[in-house]
Amino acid sequence: MVRSESNIYLVKFIREMQVKLEAIPTLGAIVYNAIVKRILSKTELEIAQKVTQRIKKGVLIDIGSGTGYLSIEIGKKAPQLNIYGIDLSRKMVEIASGHAKAFENVKFKLANAAELPFEDDSIDFIISTGSFHHWKHPIKIFNECYRVLKTNGEAWIYDGCSNPPNEEVIKLKRKYSGFKYPILTQIQKLHGFNWEEYNTKIKNLLEHTKFKKNFQMVLTDGWMKMVLKK
Ligand SMILES: C[S@@+](CC[C@H](N)C(=O)[O-])C[C@H]1O[C@@H](n2cnc3c(N)ncnc32)[C@H](O)[C@@H]1O
Repeated sequence: MVRSESNIYLVKFIREMQVKLEAIPTLGAIVYNAIVKRILSKTELEIAQKVTQRIKKGVLIDIGSGTGYLSIEIGKKAPQLNIYGIDLSRKMVEIASGHAKAFENVKFKLANAAELPFEDDSIDFIISTGSFHHWKHPIKIFNECYRVLKTNGEAWIYDGCSNPPNEEVIKLKRKYSGFKYPILTQIQKLHGFNWEEYNTKIKNLLEHTKFKKNFQMVLTDGWMKMVLKK
């Protein structure tokens, strides 16, 4: 078997495992905690910046909050915003809660986003990074987002795009120098979908949620950003 073919099978296998497990297991959470800050911190800081330009108070949930880095950065920039990070992995919730001890407005809960532990129309904003490709029941989760969001509330769901167009690749190479760019490329390959999948399968899936046609997909920094409006 040629190398590129075995690579395709490996990527396919890892993607299928991510959905099968859905929650990141304990060892995965420990490894993720050790590397995520180095590789993704720049992108997540920028996302925190964009989120807090858009909303400064109210209630925000971060779906699949992982080690909590993004939730905490948002919480630091917007102290009047109450943030709940939701994750299906017990270890991730434990790690994130440890990181957030100093921030009263940032809390983490063990829960499945397919059954969000919030009242109808109670949430101002939803954010999620790198979690969507794990979801076993994405339509259910999007409909839960719709249920808990207040009218005019938005959900920004980011996930990897494994084959961004050339102009995006040039920008990314400029931004992530040295060892970071090749690692980021691998992360994007394993965490998300390709450009064609977003424009067919994922678009179709979103049209079957309560958001219907009320969404946009924008490629930004090698991530696909899905903006959903209630
Ligand atoms: C790759 S990590 C991303 C973590 C973090 N958002 C980041 O950007 O670093 C994906 C996270 O989503 C969580 N997750 C997957 N499916 C979930 C679900 N249905 N409900 C809540 N969390 C989920 C996993 O346990 C994992 O911690």
